[in-house]
Amino acid sequence: MKEFLTDVETLRSRARENIEKGPVTDAYGADLERVLYVLNQALATELVCVLRYKRHYFTAQGLNALSAASEFLQHAGEESAHADQIAARITQLGGDPDFNPETLTGRSHSEYDASSDLREMIKEDLIAERIAIASYTEIIAWLGEGDPTTRRVLEEILATEEEHAEDMLTLLDGIPS
Ligand SMILES: [Fe+2]
Ligand SMILES: [Fe+2]
Repeated sequence: MKEFLTDVETLRSRARENIEKGPVTDAYGADLERVLYVLNQALATELVCVLRYKRHYFTAQGLNALSAASEFLQHAGEESAHADQIAARITQLGGDPDFNPETLTGRSHSEYDASSDLREMIKEDLIAERIAIASYTEIIAWLGEGDPTTRRVLEEILATEEEHAEDMLTLLDGIPS
């Protein structure tokens, strides 16, 4: 095991400098600019997911619509909670959460969808979840030990996206093509 990092005096005096940086200290090991940029992309991704699931919830029609619609609504709520978690972390790191609707789809990894066919909706949702899973997995690996708190937030979100993908696959399997 490595000897304990910095002596107490140095830790204390460093913490006193730059207090306007809030929780971001010299020990912060990631590229802050880049982390904020990536987090704003993730925020946009979640917001687009909220809109897509809401649209699907309100327009789902047909034999299997009831169970699908309740999943859509539940997912919309969870994506919205993810957006809140990410925005809170951006603010905590001293950044500005970007909710600008004009640039939303350009920053989002996943896409909006306005299909009218239920099977098509579910397929698009499954694809969007798979995109979210791939991008969160990549971001988490990139963060590594550089920013463990952001990483933990994203790991928690990733676990939910995996459940979402599983839910969509189950729905898709239950609908005849
Ligand atoms: Fe999400
Ligand atoms: Fe999701």
